[in-house]
Parts: sequence; structure tokens; C-alpha cells
Amino acid sequence: MAIILTIETTCDETAAALVTDDLEVLSSVVASQDKLHRRYGGVVPEAASRVHLEQILPVIDTVFHESGVSLSSIDAVAVANMPGLAGSLLIGLSAAKALAVSLRKPLIAINHLQAHIYACKISSGEDPFPCLGLIISGGHTSLYFCEDAINFVFVGGTIDDAVGEAFDKVATMLNLPYPGGPSIQKAAVNGNPKAYNFPRSLLNEHERMGFSFSGLKTAVRYCLVGQGKDVDPAAVSAKLSEAAVADIAASFQAAAVDVLVGKTLQAMLRSKVKTLCVGGGVAANSSFRAKIQKAMQENNYRLFIAPTNLCTDNAIMGAIAIERYKKALFEPLDLDVFPGLIR
Ligand code: KG4
Ligand code: ZN
Repeated sequence: MAIILTIETTCDETAAALVTDDLEVLSSVVASQDKLHRRYGGVVPEAASRVHLEQILPVIDTVFHESGVSLSSIDAVAVANMPGLAGSLLIGLSAAKALAVSLRKPLIAINHLQAHIYACKISSGEDPFPCLGLIISGGHTSLYFCEDAINFVFVGGTIDDAVGEAFDKVATMLNLPYPGGPSIQKAAVNGNPKAYNFPRSLLNEHERMGFSFSGLKTAVRYCLVGQGKDVDPAAVSAKLSEAAVADIAASFQAAAVDVLVGKTLQAMLRSKVKTLCVGGGVAANSSFRAKIQKAMQENNYRLFIAPTNLCTDNAIMGAIAIERYKKALFEPLDLDVFPGLIR
């Protein structure tokens, strides 16, 4: 049995896990930075990397301690080195290199987006490939043709904001705490999703495999402040009743989910595969989960979507490293970070 240490520091979660080559999870720790970034309504990259630096060694220590596995008995060190925030990625990569060199173990690179899709395989125990992969997170809204776990071909993506970013920014406008996704979901429970008819960008452009969320974000802003340029939307929503905020949250969520589900269905209809895998923090959204399930069921497509704790950033999904371990796809110690999206 091979044991791999996986490290994840692409954005604002410091995470590590110990996984085996038969996808057993021996231990997993996620140290969140939500409280810190709540103060600013979003992730502050410089602050995120400093907190990763403080948390990384205790987090790694804890996965060894909790599993009873000794440092010397692991077979490889794997780390997400793309895409993500440069400063955050560097902390995880430096820790991984230090461990790999001192323990004389191979170093494995993890593509964070591929790991999000791999979470579907880990949680289902089934092999979903080939499939279409939808990644919806704070930094990405992209569709890929996933030939297997590590060979992805870009199909389409957002032309402006990521959907998670739209959730986070709209939450800030509504005075709801960071991260915005769970806050909007909670507020939306008591709201009317039809109270406002927010735009569903690109939904009627069936041939265009892309997403757009900046218009939706702006529509929420205009709904709060009109055309007033110098008015703070959060100051306006502070004066609104809870019910009024709930209506805006529910209407925004309905528009975002309609676009995600609608555009994904269009992509499935054009694709040769009949399986969809969804990953990323926004895949934790309960309204999205219900609607994508319905849409896939109605069209006889197979849907894989991980449980919510495996949708948001974690190191268990880093078990994708096993695919590279089995093929001896190891990295030299001058491995770099790649913050941008490589298509
Ligand atoms: O995958 P993730 O943890 O980190 C990135 O790789 O970006 O995704 C974080 C994003 C945030 O924008 C957060 O607001 C959103 O996922 N999110 C949600 C929910 N839970 C997290 N969005 C909508 N509904 C949720 N329940
Ligand atoms: Zn992520």
C-alpha cells in the first residue's frame, strides 16, 4: 500500500491529507481563514499567504498525528501548484519540496481544477471518466472535456467574473458575511426567487459555450443604489428589512443557478459524453444541486457531484496524485507555481 501526503494552499484554506493508493483517506485537516477575510469581504492575497505560513506546519503535523502514520512511511509528497494565488501556492510548494527532499520521497504536482473534479471519483468510488467537468468556484467557472483524471480539454469558461466571486461580491453588497456563497444560500431560504428578474447572461446563446456573471453582479448593484455612482450598496441594504434582503439574495441565486445549469445542459447536449462531474465551492449550493440533478435526470445523463465538504477546497481531492504516482509522473525540485489557468 502506498501512502501519499497531499498539500493544498491554492487560495485561503490551508489543508493536508494522507491518502492511500486505493483512495482510502487516513486523515484530513482543513484550516480555514474565513474569519480573517470576513473583515475585508473577500480574500486578501498577501494576508492569505502569511496565514498559510503560520498554519502549514501545524496542519501537516496534525494529519500525521491523527492517522498515526510516521513521516518516513509515506511514499510521496503531492502539492497543488496550479492555478491559484501565487503567494499562497508558494507556501504549499515550499513545504512540499522541503519534505520531499528531506524524506527522499518523490514530489507530485496537482492541478487544483483537476482535483476538484477528482473529488467526484473519491466520493462515489466509481470511475466517472470520460466526462464533462464543470468547475464552479471563487476563481473559476469552466467546462472541460475530461478524457481521464489528468487529461482535460477546455470547452468554455467565464468571460468575466467567476460565479463564486459574484456570490461573494453580492453578499458584500447585501451586508452578508464572507464567504458569500453560504451566506446568500442561507438568506435566500426565506426569499422569493422571482422578486427580481435579474439577467441570465448568455443563456439564450445556445452555440456559445461560455458564462458571464458581471452583468448579474451589476444588476444587483443597480437594484440597490440605482444609477448612483457614489452610493455604497452595503449602506443601502443595511437599511432594508431582512425580507427585502432575502428577496434580492434569492433572486440573485436563482439567476446564477439558472445560468450554471442551463449552459451546462447546452454543453452536455453538444458533447459526446453522457456523464457530468461537478466540483468547486459553488457546487455546495443546495439550490444548484437540486436543479442540476433534475436537469441531468430529465436528460438521462449520469451526474457525479461530491458531498459539500469535498466541493470546497480540501486536500482529500489531492488524492488525484495517485494517478500520477502510478505512472511515476514525478517532478524535479525546481518545480514552480503556475497561478494562471493553463488551458
Ligand atoms: O472551491 P473553493 O472552496 O475555492 C476556490 O477554489 O475558489 O470555492 C470557494 C467559493 C467561494 O466563492 C464561496 O462563496 C463559494 O465557493 N461557495 C458557495 C457555497 N459554498 C461555497 N457558493 C454558493 N453556495 C454555497 N453553498
Ligand atoms: Zn477550489
